[in-house]
Amino acid sequence: QIIDYSEEVMEHFTNPRNVGEIENASGVGTVGNAKCGDIMRIYLDVDDNQIIRDCKFKTFGCGAAVATSSMATEMIKGKSIQEALKLTNKAVMEALGGLPPVKVHCSLLAEEAVHAALWDYAQKHNITIEGLKPPVNDIDETEAFYEMPGAND
Ligand code: FES
Repeated sequence: QIIDYSEEVMEHFTNPRNVGEIENASGVGTVGNAKCGDIMRIYLDVDDNQIIRDCKFKTFGCGAAVATSSMATEMIKGKSIQEALKLTNKAVMEALGGLPPVKVHCSLLAEEAVHAALWDYAQKHNITIEGLKPPVNDIDETEAFYEMPGAND
């Protein structure tokens, strides 16, 4: 099946922003989609004013998953954790010029990964982020490490 991606999706897929890891990250979220098996991990570096200073990702997944990770990290960089929480998969899709219906779940994975990273940040810092729910589809860290190429570099 040939998928017709927008130019923005192709651009972010071929030239993804914010790829990598953050050592001693303030929060890390790893989520997976059981159906396609794709995995996405987002690292946050949050400063004392709860502003996301830096944000990186590693995605073991399809082109849309890579493009949405890239766009989502771009969209929350420099934002407060409250603003990051408001990032929806719809906003990410819109910024990417849309996604075909079979690829909507990939953008949802990006939203969930951001939420999971925020959740981890809140847990580690013993704070409550209003409106943030426990992550869905979060997966076992060791399992993710095993499956993600380059994760142990
Ligand atoms: Fe599942 Fe893209 S096909 S994340």
